[in-house]
Amino acid sequence: MTPAPAIVTTGITLGTLAILLFLIADLYVILHMVHTIFAPKSNWKWLQTMGKRWHPIHYYGNMALVVVMVIHAIILAPYTGFWNWLFFALILWMGITGLILKFSHISPKAKATLFRFHARWYMILLVLILLIVAHLVSLQSFPFPLG
Ligand code: HEM
Ligand code: HEM
Repeated sequence: MTPAPAIVTTGITLGTLAILLFLIADLYVILHMVHTIFAPKSNWKWLQTMGKRWHPIHYYGNMALVVVMVIHAIILAPYTGFWNWLFFALILWMGITGLILKFSHISPKAKATLFRFHARWYMILLVLILLIVAHLVSLQSFPFPLG
């Protein structure tokens, strides 16, 4: 295989940065999902404590993630297809609804609806599944060796 051009290497590096930001920004969210699915009845006090402190990391970490992801996706656009663009739309949705939930003053009813399509365990599960599936699909036709 021919080595990747510098711009593609930059795109991949931004992908690595994106996954780091994602794991930091959403660590609590992922742990909370695990708790909800596997141990809904047990009381994880440390997780509650962690959750209270996690908010700013969630907000600002994910805002940075969305920016990095957009650049990562634009650079690697020639090497991907439907699933990664669906995933792109999902992350934009999560970013925009998150901003509305946090910073706007809409009716409590509208907020409750948005909450259901942002701040629930099945949304982070969907993000994780689509992240993996979309990248595995586009990896099949990726023409350069990876790190
Ligand atoms: C782009 C990736 C994002 C994902 C995957 C995501 C996912 C989630 C999930 C699953 C929850 C539920 C948390 C729980 O388990 O209790 C949540 C809560 C929340 N998220 Fe996001 N989010 C993202 C970005 C953002 C952004 C950019 C903001 C705002 C600046 C935001 C604001 C909120 C708010 C206000 C809540 C309600 C609870 C809280 O204040 O922590 N999110 N998010
Ligand atoms: C939260 C969002 C995203 C994260 C965390 C992420 C993360 C990553 C990482 C870590 C890699 C390197 C894989 C490796 O070295 O084996 C990568 C590769 C890649 N990403 Fe992303 N990515 C995201 C979104 C996207 C989007 C929206 C697109 C396109 C629209 C995209 C297209 C690609 C492509 C084409 C590659 C090359 C390897 C492959 O096809 O799997 N990524 N990404």
